[in-house]
Amino acid sequence: MTQVGGVQSRCLGVTLQLIIAAVLHQGFATVAPPTTAHTTAPPHKDPGRPEKINYFVNNTYGTCLMASMGIQLNVTFSSVSQNKTVHGVMNLKPNFTKSSGSCYATNATLNLTTDVDKSILTFVFSLNTTSSKYHLSEVSLSAAWPDMKEPVSAANRSLDYLRGTLGYSYMCREEQTLNVAPELSINIFQVQVQPFNVTGDQFGAAEECQLDEDDMLIPIIVGAALAGLVLIVLLAYLIGRKRSHAGYQTI
Ligand SMILES: *[C@@H]1O[C@H](CO)[C@@H](O)[C@H](O)[C@H]1NC(C)=O
Ligand SMILES: *[C@@H]1O[C@H](CO)[C@@H](O)[C@H](O)[C@H]1NC(C)=O
Ligand SMILES: *[C@@H]1O[C@H](CO)[C@@H](O)[C@H](O)[C@H]1NC(C)=O
Ligand SMILES: *[C@@H]1O[C@H](CO)[C@@H](O)[C@H](O)[C@H]1NC(C)=O
Ligand SMILES: *[C@@H]1O[C@H](CO)[C@@H](O)[C@H](O)[C@H]1NC(C)=O
Ligand SMILES: *[C@@H]1O[C@H](CO)[C@@H](O)[C@H](O)[C@H]1NC(C)=O
Ligand SMILES: *[C@@H]1O[C@H](CO)[C@@H](O)[C@H](O)[C@H]1NC(C)=O
Ligand SMILES: *[C@@H]1O[C@H](CO)[C@@H](O)[C@H](O)[C@H]1NC(C)=O
Ligand SMILES: *[C@@H]1O[C@H](CO)[C@@H](O)[C@H](O)[C@H]1NC(C)=O
Repeated sequence: MTQVGGVQSRCLGVTLQLIIAAVLHQGFATVAPPTTAHTTAPPHKDPGRPEKINYFVNNTYGTCLMASMGIQLNVTFSSVSQNKTVHGVMNLKPNFTKSSGSCYATNATLNLTTDVDKSILTFVFSLNTTSSKYHLSEVSLSAAWPDMKEPVSAANRSLDYLRGTLGYSYMCREEQTLNVAPELSINIFQVQVQPFNVTGDQFGAAEECQLDEDDMLIPIIVGAALAGLVLIVLLAYLIGRKRSHAGYQTI
């Protein structure tokens, strides 16, 4: 009897360890980032999460590029008020952001301008017609914020972000950081974008990013561990019952 009990609790121990490991992993994944984010940008106060905005680029046939996301600019510049180099973090706000753009066979441009801060942000998507894949290939920014000693302009024409397949939209619920240049990175939130082959003004079926898929994995692992635990307890119970049964018979 006691031997069976020993086996049972050891199995329980291993399974519980698995579950605890999975839960801890999730806990660290969601808790750790905010603590580091708060300590890194002391000069300018944290503007919070940017609001999600819908952007349309229309041509004569209707909407040709659609995007929906929250955009946060992180620009390194020389500050007048602080007399030093700072990381300025600014959110694009719906009422103060205008969009325009253009669509061609193998490239599509989304051009965003902000009223107050005098920034022009441009995203260029490229389509590879051989592979039917698109990606964000270019980002440029020119900014003349009031606190800037001189205007900042940054561009990178060899990027490879937001990869998707023609006819589908690209989607990512998790925050992503686009590293553009030493003086510019862009944090995007809850992005869904379709730069080519938009039909009507609806997104095509979504292809979800790797980050989201990784996030889905945790509940699956926890679920599998719980199922395993139930199975082990059941087995231990059945074995225990059989043994004790045999035990009673010999007495
Ligand atoms: C572009 O098309 C969308 C969807 O039809 C519409 O909501 C939007 O107002 C249009 N934008 C412009 C600038 O025409
Ligand atoms: C802005 O960029 C700087 C330097 O790359 C980085 O240290 C900081 O964490 C970034 N801030 C945000 C809010 O992304
Ligand atoms: C700004 O900093 C530089 C050196 O860091 C110093 O020489 C200059 O006097 C400072 N200017 C002001 C207005 O504080
Ligand atoms: C943005 O515009 C909408 C309608 O044009 C208005 O109701 C809202 O108050 C504005 N928000 C801000 C923050 O100005
Ligand atoms: C997009 O394609 C058109 C036509 O091929 C070309 O004229 C234009 O320069 C391209 N734009 C970019 C940003 O590559
Ligand atoms: C983006 O918009 C700005 C201001 O409206 C304009 O000066 C610039 O030429 C546009 N750029 C593109 C690539 O459309
Ligand atoms: C397009 O994709 C094909 C197949 O993946 C690849 O061989 C080719 O180099 C790509 N072309 C460009 C311009 O990236
Ligand atoms: C893209 O659109 C063109 C014309 O609207 C259509 O012929 C083509 O089949 C579409 N491609 C995909 C992959 O949906
Ligand atoms: C452009 O982005 C790529 C990929 O992130 C990076 O390797 C490259 O250094 C960047 N170029 C410039 C001019 O910042």
